[in-house]
Amino acid sequence: MRTIDWIDGAIELIDQTLLPHQVEVHRVTELPELIDDIKRLAVRGAPALGVAGALGVALIAASVQRSGGDEELDTVEVRRQAALLREARPTAVNLSWGVDRALTALDAGADAVLEEALRIRDEDIAACISMGLYGADLTRELTGKDRVRVMTICNTGSLATVERGTALGVIQTLLEQGSLEEAFPLETRPLLQGARLTAWELQRMDAPFRLLVDSAGPFLLSRGIADAVFIGADRIAANGDTANKVGSFSLALAAKHAGVPFIVVAPESTVDMSTASGADIEIEDRGVDEVAGFGGVRTAPEGIAAVNPAFDVTPNELITAIVTERRVILPGRGETLRDTPLGELRA
Ligand code: MRU
Repeated sequence: MRTIDWIDGAIELIDQTLLPHQVEVHRVTELPELIDDIKRLAVRGAPALGVAGALGVALIAASVQRSGGDEELDTVEVRRQAALLREARPTAVNLSWGVDRALTALDAGADAVLEEALRIRDEDIAACISMGLYGADLTRELTGKDRVRVMTICNTGSLATVERGTALGVIQTLLEQGSLEEAFPLETRPLLQGARLTAWELQRMDAPFRLLVDSAGPFLLSRGIADAVFIGADRIAANGDTANKVGSFSLALAAKHAGVPFIVVAPESTVDMSTASGADIEIEDRGVDEVAGFGGVRTAPEGIAAVNPAFDVTPNELITAIVTERRVILPGRGETLRDTPLGELRA
């Protein structure tokens, strides 16, 4: 089952807020519903947000076309609505990238926009396969081991993409190749993408794994529990600084301390060469409610304030490797995004 797709003239997506207890598909026919699904994390994860952005523009274009009847497509109105979609979440660059790329087809009409959006969906599927292959080879090379133990955070699996995943896609590839000894997903406070989504995916793929509370991750790295740390990314700045789920930075520091490779796995669409460094990345703050309780149960006293950054930024000097579908960059050996050429897509 795909996490997000275009079915019979509308977007269908798995409502991730209900997992792991319920697998429910939400059919989205109107822009406000899509924006709401993005804001409440029914659809989430940078690559899935890119596809949601692109399919969202297709939805907008089709609806503007319908209301205009036989008249030429009102591209100004499509762009006005697309701007609202673009701003639904600020940190993952894939959302604005997907919106903007779908808009490049706008002058050719609503059908062309849909075709471009479907191309983005298909490219995501191929990119994840390629990242899995590059990532698995690299992990064996960097660790010098045929079977590895990997720590990861948040959910970077099929639920964060269309079909297969980025960092968790590498874990799946290692499993398929007989190279996964064990995975250690962190539960990922406050919304528990690791406990709810990654544990669900690992169980479905029959992978050996044990779930950790977030604060145990750095300590257990120092005790040698894992051979590598894999994370996904929401935005990779031109200098390699990487925004990802909050908690990634602490894992990077601990990985450095433990001498364990810290590997970012993300598609080229997450690389944002127009953002110079991590300091320029806007970090979404999701407010007090997610911190002060979970699932409608209040755990903190009423009336408190909280700081709730959904993401943090790992500086490039703590990153051993960045793996995309077209290349491997080793910032630790002085390699840069600017100077590393794109290579083959692997399949
Ligand atoms: O707030 P979320 O759940 O959208 O955060 C997702 C992450 O931080 C992922 O690690 C990132 O988007 C990469 S997903 C392949």
